[in-house]
Amino acid sequence: MAVERTLILAKADAVVRGLVGEVLARFERRGYTILGLKLMQVTRDQAQRHYAEHDGKPFFAGLVDYITATPIVAFVIEGEDVIEGARSTIGATNPIKATPGTIRGDYGQTIGRNLVHGSDSPESAAREIAIFFRDDELFARAHTLGDWIAAK
Ligand code: RTP
Ligand code: MG
Repeated sequence: MAVERTLILAKADAVVRGLVGEVLARFERRGYTILGLKLMQVTRDQAQRHYAEHDGKPFFAGLVDYITATPIVAFVIEGEDVIEGARSTIGATNPIKATPGTIRGDYGQTIGRNLVHGSDSPESAAREIAIFFRDDELFARAHTLGDWIAAK
């Protein structure tokens, strides 16, 4: 067990379909802590860097179009083994194969519109978080947890 951070993106279809709250709620209910959150227009440069591992694949151009089509909601969450845990909450890449109860299994139909991104390793998480957030946009865990309550 290790406390980790991961990058989650509510992609264009989640925003347009009004599912951002549903997506965020899944992670909040699981007990993860939100460290950063913003509605943002991803640039094509950011999109290409974010999906660099897929450069050259037939779906790469569509992937860049998809993530830049509308503003998206990016957030960083923290928790014990959150990278694997968040991906289990998100579900399989192809929504047809995603288990009901996961985000993609409950809301998705096709692999090209699968609603959510989650980092797949500690290395990916560190690299991806830096593409979407400056250090001063991320709040420390203590800020969001007990200190405020303890002070009352
Ligand atoms: P993500 O990075 O978005 O969390 O998704 P993932 O790890 O489950 O899947 P990945 O293999 O990293 O693929 C990234 C995104 O590319 C689109 N995709 N399309 N048409 C295809 O065969 C295909 N394969 C992947 C999906 O939108 C996937 O989320
Ligand atoms: Mg991936």
